[in-house]
Amino acid sequence: MYLTKEEERIYNGECGWANQVCMKILVRLGELFNATKLIPISSAHVSGVSYKTLGDAPTEFLEALAYANTKAYVKATLNPQSFDREYLCKKLPQNLFRKQLRVMEYFEKMDFVPSLTCTPYYLEKPEKGAHLAWAESSAVVYANSVIGAWTNREGGPSALAAAVIGKTPDYGMHKAENRQPKVLVKLGTRLRSDVEFGALGIFLGKVLKDEIPFIQGLQKASADNLKQLGAAMASTGMVNMFYHCNDTLKSGIEKISIEAKDILRTVENLTTTSKQKPNLVFVGCPHCSLAEIKLIASLIHHRKVKEETECWICTSRHIQEKAKKYVTKIEQTGARVITDTCVVVTWTDKLGIKTIMTNSAKTAHYAPTMNKAETVLVSLKESLDAAFRG
Ligand code: F3S
Repeated sequence: MYLTKEEERIYNGECGWANQVCMKILVRLGELFNATKLIPISSAHVSGVSYKTLGDAPTEFLEALAYANTKAYVKATLNPQSFDREYLCKKLPQNLFRKQLRVMEYFEKMDFVPSLTCTPYYLEKPEKGAHLAWAESSAVVYANSVIGAWTNREGGPSALAAAVIGKTPDYGMHKAENRQPKVLVKLGTRLRSDVEFGALGIFLGKVLKDEIPFIQGLQKASADNLKQLGAAMASTGMVNMFYHCNDTLKSGIEKISIEAKDILRTVENLTTTSKQKPNLVFVGCPHCSLAEIKLIASLIHHRKVKEETECWICTSRHIQEKAKKYVTKIEQTGARVITDTCVVVTWTDKLGIKTIMTNSAKTAHYAPTMNKAETVLVSLKESLDAAFRG
């Protein structure tokens, strides 16, 4: 792989061991995928921030980097951690809370932005065509497919290394020839809810593995529906991008058909219990947009959460701040607007939560293993109806 003089100096350790380690991570990755050079990025987004998924050894690595005076060279945002600042931080074991605080101390020492969200594009939307090094799979699909930015699906370490160096290896989704659709998906049904967009994503992720689909027959969809589709697709497969009705298609590619029964069966399979009385109703995977917070506020206005049920609406601090008026309305009902974290990256099992109802196909896919919980996947309206009286 070609390195500039400056990159070579970093690679050889002339700018300190921490920069050297980061450069070596990028060069190794580039060599694995036959990249010929590094390219500059406009931002990085790092996953593996929650102590629940990170653990001790990576925390020590972060500590070493932070105390070697490592700094992010480009704007670098962070995925959700395992706690929020008001509710879960008091309810969960304090030793876990302290460990999470350590992780955050190191990231902040390195000048990472404590965004703590999987929707960094709401903080600052990347330019169309901008090269990024993002590591949250749902954000990667959204960036490539909805925003038109260019990013591979980074791992936590490679996104961190890219943030520090300000560059990423030039391969995969950074090359125009790798961004072409490979499979024509003929959708023979109209999707009726957020859940069905997610179910389509779960189905496609399994079938396509890493091949980019062109989805034909998808009705005009909101950005939030496409967010559900992409997040789900990236949880069952390695697809990093999709095309839909507004895009144009080159002919001559493999075709698959999807009917209503495939969507229905996928939704059914993501529901693991018939129990309709969840301990927790969770909305906000990926983190809610401003439009979603407004919609939720209008759906639950003047209602009260059932005593035996918790209702969490997860979003970023950024959106919480922008949606203050709606957040107040939501919290007056007894539902909680929770920032910085989500169900999947915190320890719901330690709170005694055994059944989670959600409108997110991604959460329904992960919760049985990540949260040791039964799941019920239903639409946003049905989820909220189950949490509220009246
Ligand atoms: Fe975000 Fe957590 Fe879902 S990080 S995409 S809300 S699993």
